[in-house]
Amino acid sequence: MTLKKEDFPFSVQFDFERGEFSPKEKTATRRISDLGMIFHDKVAVELLIHQGDPLVYEIFYYGFKTSLSDMALGTTRIQPGKTGDEYYMTKGHFHEALDQPEIYFCIKGEGYLLMETLDGEFQAVKWKPGTITHIPPMWAHRVVNTSSSPLVFVASYHLAAGHSYEPIEEKGFLKRVIERNGKPQLVQNNQRF
Ligand code: PA5
Ligand code: NI
Repeated sequence: MTLKKEDFPFSVQFDFERGEFSPKEKTATRRISDLGMIFHDKVAVELLIHQGDPLVYEIFYYGFKTSLSDMALGTTRIQPGKTGDEYYMTKGHFHEALDQPEIYFCIKGEGYLLMETLDGEFQAVKWKPGTITHIPPMWAHRVVNTSSSPLVFVASYHLAAGHSYEPIEEKGFLKRVIERNGKPQLVQNNQRF
């Protein structure tokens, strides 16, 4: 087989201090106004938008497409903060392709990785730097930052996985992570019961 340019090995350089890598192909930003539907306190959402619509998280992305394969690398940096009593978090999604897993690697910060299936299985994994989690196919996934500094994680997956946001946008995860008496606590999501 004649190798094309994209069939050769390729590296990006991760900056552990900043929590991002270069080169990157794309950067996406998510502000409170992009995420209003996922937080339970809509008054707090409106207030934050009014106060300047703060950044919640950024995604840095690189796709490794070759003649035979399609890996992707994403780094997500979630800012510290809360909407009302609910910690900042990613939108969360299922993969469109039902046979596609993903690896998440926590680099900085502390929080939770929430995962659940359509059948009602639920897991909250306490996350700290160095925790690496394999997310099996058909488990929705969301990361919550409960620390007072940015939480950074690296994701690796096949581009073919796709992102399906609707089920989570509509009803959220089975549990929410909120601050009670200065500490993170998992509580039932009333939208689901
Ligand atoms: O592919 C992934 O699972 C991640 O790169 C996420 O897309 C990223 O963490 C942002 O989360 P979400 O896509 O749920 O907004
Ligand atoms: Ni994913």
